[in-house]
Amino acid sequence: MTEHVVVNDEAGIRTIRMNRPEKKNALTLAMYDAMTDALESASTNDAVRCVVFAGVSGAFSAGNDLADFLAATQGTGRWSAQALRFLPALVHCRKPLVAAVSGVAVGIGTTMLLHCDYVAVATDARLSTPFVGLGLVPEAASSLLAPRMMGPHRAFELLVMGHVLNAMQAKECGIANVVVAPEDVDAMGIKAAREIATLPAGAVAAARGLMRGSGDELEARIALEGKIFNERLQSPEAKTALEAFFARKR
Ligand code: COA
Repeated sequence: MTEHVVVNDEAGIRTIRMNRPEKKNALTLAMYDAMTDALESASTNDAVRCVVFAGVSGAFSAGNDLADFLAATQGTGRWSAQALRFLPALVHCRKPLVAAVSGVAVGIGTTMLLHCDYVAVATDARLSTPFVGLGLVPEAASSLLAPRMMGPHRAFELLVMGHVLNAMQAKECGIANVVVAPEDVDAMGIKAAREIATLPAGAVAAARGLMRGSGDELEARIALEGKIFNERLQSPEAKTALEAFFARKR
């Protein structure tokens, strides 16, 4: 249990809101666990027809808490078991996934969007995946999904060069469906979820299953990325970059 993730069920729609505004919704281990539990129970709960991920004003999520990455460079040298439980839950969630994104969406805050079925972004959205700058590699099967979604060149710019996508660019790349004002983004996500929730649930599940396949390929890629990610966490490059993040305000 953590107050940093708020789960709410209403009219067949489960909203999973990341709620750690003071840290721009950087994801802690407890937050991963809470989001995983909410996804897994949504899968088996007939009353839940659609799941909406939301953040707070100005921050969808700043990605994995870098303190945990830094601790991993000094300790276990491994990305957390909690995050590695969250990723398969995203892949295998049996309910449609919608995201309402405003403000920063960094690292997994962006790569989780590649697993969503419908994404609304606010005009202030800034999507980025600075893994390589941190001495790390992309995760969440983004190394497979991003080139497929936006083509290898634009995926390289995002995943390797770390360029930031604004809202319109995210839409042009196919990551986002729609761009709305920041104050409207949550309502837009709920509106899309309501539309999905009114469709015949069996047919939605069948169509979605056809489009997404078994998820085996994604799971295999997540495992491969995870292996290399852990190797990178033990590199001097990662240690230096992560220490620099926390030293930047001193
Ligand atoms: N992990 C841990 N703490 C984080 C964080 C993260 N991923 N992202 C932000 N924070 C913290 C900051 O350290 C700061 O804490 P403090 O007030 O105690 O110093 C607080 O959240 C606010 O962040 P700040 O950097 O002051 O806000 P900003 O609006 O200037 O910048 C970001 C926001 C997200 C662009 C910037 O914080 C950032 O680049 N964060 C790192 C993102 C990242 O690399 N994620 C992992 C990707 S693999």
